[in-house]
Amino acid sequence: MKKLKFFIKTFGCIQNTADSERIKAFYWNKGYEEIDNWKKSDLVIINTCIIRESAENRVYGLINLINQWNKKTSFTKATDGQVKIIVTGCLAGLAHKDKTGKKLNQLKRDFPEVSEFLPIEKISFKLDPIRDKKDLALIPISFGCSNFCSYCIVPFARGPELSKPMEEILKEVDEVIKNGFKEVLLIGQNVNSYGADFNDETEVSMGKKRFKSSFHKLLEEVAKKDLQKVSFVSSNPWDFSDELIETIAKYSNIDRLLHLPFQAGDDEVLKKMNRGYTSKEYINLIKKIRDKVPNVRFSTDIIIGFPGEDEKAFQNTVKLCKKAKFEIAYVNKYSPRKGTVSAKLYKDEIPQSEKKRRWRILDDLINKKN
Ligand code: SAH
Ligand code: SF4
Ligand code: F3S
Repeated sequence: MKKLKFFIKTFGCIQNTADSERIKAFYWNKGYEEIDNWKKSDLVIINTCIIRESAENRVYGLINLINQWNKKTSFTKATDGQVKIIVTGCLAGLAHKDKTGKKLNQLKRDFPEVSEFLPIEKISFKLDPIRDKKDLALIPISFGCSNFCSYCIVPFARGPELSKPMEEILKEVDEVIKNGFKEVLLIGQNVNSYGADFNDETEVSMGKKRFKSSFHKLLEEVAKKDLQKVSFVSSNPWDFSDELIETIAKYSNIDRLLHLPFQAGDDEVLKKMNRGYTSKEYINLIKKIRDKVPNVRFSTDIIIGFPGEDEKAFQNTVKLCKKAKFEIAYVNKYSPRKGTVSAKLYKDEIPQSEKKRRWRILDDLINKKN
């Protein structure tokens, strides 16, 4: 019998890329094979991102494109040739986590052609992933996020942070080493709060009451293994403990490029974002890490045009960038996401043209300096 074929399109962050490696295993196990041309496939799986409106629109654009293709080919082909659509990832997650059922119903009404909005939890993460890369292995260590930064949809789409048991992670690392991988990337939305959900001890760090993290312990265990490089994303400032800094300093195979999003350099804006720390605390953290870890470099995420970010506040972000000397920055224009606190409380008041201007200033300053 002819094998059915699937095509997978992955939008969004590295966590989605890692999820897609498991989704592929799920469909291979069901007897499908993967192809790289959606027009020739029986099934398109769209692993979605909704972090900004533009990301969400890209998903709808692809669904509509497939619908149009299906309509066009339905005249020329008798029965087959129709591409079935499955939507998974954060859009499906958000819809399924809405207990009123309204979001899911609305999506089903808007996109009747989608066969299923499949929550990622339905795909077993015990499956051995089909890894895309041959040298770098993606290892999710926690799922979801409990931080509720006021602008962010992720906690609504992925639910609260849940850490994988340490033994399971270390077993996966051993397996990838056995299979010839030389580098691993540990992944979590708040990777350095790993274990906070199973620890009882609390502490206050940069204005946030936190459960203690076990990330430094896990990182040490991974770094001791036969690996050339161990990286991790995304870290948050309030979970960057002294123990973690010491661990990084101790093992030379831990990546010296650290991704440490700061989002904004103005304390008022940071407060409205529910980020907890001040710009001074962030800069002091960077200094402390630089003191203890020679040759360390930093990359970051920034949001510009958050409500209330006037010129002075924006200049505080510019100042922070000049002090921190980032190697790379992912600069994002604020996009209100329905259901988040910032979308409820504040008007998206900064015009698009001004967001563009600020975006260019930071991009030129950090990403175009060479
Ligand atoms: N958990 C990670 C990444 C989250 S999403 C972290 O906290 O670092 C990646 C980036 O998208 C964020 O760091 C932020 O800069 C940006 N982002 C999130 N929500 C946004 C929104 N509503 N508008 C614009 N950018 C946003
Ligand atoms: Fe979103 Fe903040 Fe969680 Fe990152 S830490 S996923 S920005 S809520
Ligand atoms: Fe997007 Fe979901 Fe990642 S919204 S940024 S794919 S966690």
